[in-house]
Amino acid sequence: MIWKEKYKIGVPLIDEQHQELFRRVTDFVETLRSQGEWNTKVTKVNETLAFMKDYVVTHFHDEEAYQKEIGYPALGEHAKIHNDMVQYVVTVAEQYEREGFKEELMQQFAGKLLAWLINHVAATDQKIAEFVKSKEEVSHE
Ligand SMILES: [Fe+2]
Ligand SMILES: [Fe+2]
Repeated sequence: MIWKEKYKIGVPLIDEQHQELFRRVTDFVETLRSQGEWNTKVTKVNETLAFMKDYVVTHFHDEEAYQKEIGYPALGEHAKIHNDMVQYVVTVAEQYEREGFKEELMQQFAGKLLAWLINHVAATDQKIAEFVKSKEEVSHE
């Protein structure tokens, strides 16, 4: 898995959710890239889409609630990035329902999911932890 300890933001619930997302997406990418049977891949696509549609919404909700709680100033901007991602997952899920399993579409989806996850968790979400740290520094002065 590509998860790294340094991705933690110090909030156990959020860190746990991030790890689960990494676990699922890595597994998804590996299954699609494997030489395995078509059936195995379709099962994994169904499983991953069902999981993502739900879990991503829950995670974003919890993370935004935390941002609100700490008075994070970039919440609006951050929530917009989340909403765009939810929209993307829904769009792919709809296309999949219409057209069925297409290897190329799913490879693309898996690649984008993984890239997005790494970029978002390693950069955008880290800013939440940086904000908390900067607040603590101010209050200790
Ligand atoms: Fe996150
Ligand atoms: Fe986020």
